[in-house]
Amino acid sequence: MDKAIIPAPPTAELEELFRAAHTAKHAAYCPYSNFRVGAALLGSNGKIYMGCNIENASYALATCAERTAIVKAVSEGEKTFTKIAITSDVETGFTGPCGSCRQTLAEFGLDLEVYLVNPKNQSKLYTLREILPIAFVPTDLNKPRLSHDVVE
Ligand code: THU
Repeated sequence: MDKAIIPAPPTAELEELFRAAHTAKHAAYCPYSNFRVGAALLGSNGKIYMGCNIENASYALATCAERTAIVKAVSEGEKTFTKIAITSDVETGFTGPCGSCRQTLAEFGLDLEVYLVNPKNQSKLYTLREILPIAFVPTDLNKPRLSHDVVE
C-alpha cells in the first residue's frame, strides 16, 4: 500500500488544511512522550477542526490529536468529514493514525481522505477504507444475529 510522496500541497484547500495541522501540533501537551502530533479535520461545512495530543500523568489517559479534533468537531455539530491531515515531528517517513483513531474516524465514514504530512509539508494520501480494512462500522450493528449458540 505504498503511496507516492506528494511534494507540496496540491490545492489551496490542502495548503490551509496542512498548515492547520502544523499549527495544531504546536499546542501538543506531551510532557511524557515528547512526541507532538497535530491533526486538522475538514468538515463538509468547510470548517477546519484542529486537534493535538493531550497526555496525562496517568499515561493510559492520553488523547491522540485525531481524536481531539473529532471530539471538537462533533461537539460543535459537524458529523461529516472529507479530509484529515496528520503531522508529527518525525523526520523520515510519515506518522499514521493509531488503530483507536482509525476506528473513531470510521464511525463517520470510510471515504475520508487521510493525508499524512511530514514537517517538510510533503504528504501521502490514503483513504480511511484502505488503512482500516474489514472495518467494524455502525451498520454492522443492524445485521441479523442468532439468538442461540450454534457451537456449544
Ligand atoms: N499519538 C497521536 O496523537 N496520534 C496518533 O495517531 C499516534 C499517537 C500521540 C499519543 C501520545 O501522546 C504520543 O503520540 C505518543 O504515543
